[in-house]
Amino acid sequence: MNRARPSLAASTRMNLESRLEKHRTRLDKHLARLLPPEDAEPRALHQAMRYSVLGGGKRIRPILCLETTAALTDRTAGVEDLACAIEFIHTYSLIHDDLPALDNDDLRRGQPTCHKRFGEAIAILAGDALLTLAFEILGRMPQPEPYRRTQILRELAAAAGTRGGMIGGQVADLDAVGKKVSPEQLKAIHGSKTGALIRAAVRSGGLFAGARGRTFEHLSVYGEKIGLAFQIVDDVLDVRSSPDRLGKPAGKDAARHKATYPAVHGLEASERMAAELVEAACAELEFLGPRGGILEALACHLLERTA
Ligand code: IPE
Ligand code: IPE
Ligand code: MG
Ligand code: MG
Ligand code: MG
Repeated sequence: MNRARPSLAASTRMNLESRLEKHRTRLDKHLARLLPPEDAEPRALHQAMRYSVLGGGKRIRPILCLETTAALTDRTAGVEDLACAIEFIHTYSLIHDDLPALDNDDLRRGQPTCHKRFGEAIAILAGDALLTLAFEILGRMPQPEPYRRTQILRELAAAAGTRGGMIGGQVADLDAVGKKVSPEQLKAIHGSKTGALIRAAVRSGGLFAGARGRTFEHLSVYGEKIGLAFQIVDDVLDVRSSPDRLGKPAGKDAARHKATYPAVHGLEASERMAAELVEAACAELEFLGPRGGILEALACHLLERTA
């Protein structure tokens, strides 16, 4: 069946863009407050942490977390700490992903990668420090109540972890270089290296709002599907886009014989699969009624993004 690609009406797109900009401004301020100051010792490390976090980034994961909480409750006070902790975990993963031992990239968020700017040792330690800071923030945040907070801690630790989580996915990604992978293996790599943290951003936003039962299940499926779609689009953009637009290298996945959706399925089939995932993700939001509108628009936005 030839399905229509989910897409945003022009007016929704404009509203979403301004909403995203507001989120980014608010998040950037909060991230800057949570990071150690540059002039505190060890200075080089704190400079590297601030450089990598505050140097740009779409802030998709924290925005998904904020919007999930807001779709479920009006009591959102304190959720920024959670959202920022997720962005710290994500930024750590980018710093390590770019290291010579992993993807060996020189450009990230439009500037030299952390190890290019600060050296490899400081980049490794800045990544470690961001991950640690994230869990310090999660442990001390005043909201939600302790049981929910423990659930959120477990959720994010597992998503960043080795079994079905980001680190496990990164290992599988490296193992797959130059090998023929099956569609199932590829889905598992992408679902874990990238999908797990995106799903956790949605689920932890839900947990913050007290979601459970069917509500939590629907949000989980939504998060899983957009998480996988996100990495498929990342693979497609590596083929279709440019370093200027992406702020990171393009065309390197094929050169490095990485296991990607375009390599395994072809470009057009990859785009179709991402669109189908987004459509299926949006179907999970029906239970929210009009309150699900923003999460739906966000899912379409992830598909249409060009950077
Ligand atoms: C890049 O993530 C790494 C992937 C998991 C695909 P983003 O595309 O969200 O990168 P930033 O945060 O906007 O720089
Ligand atoms: C990154 O996947 C996944 C992470 C966990 C960081 P990629 O290696 O494709 O991400 P980019 O293209 O370098 O941002
Ligand atoms: Mg990588
Ligand atoms: Mg990479
Ligand atoms: Mg990529």
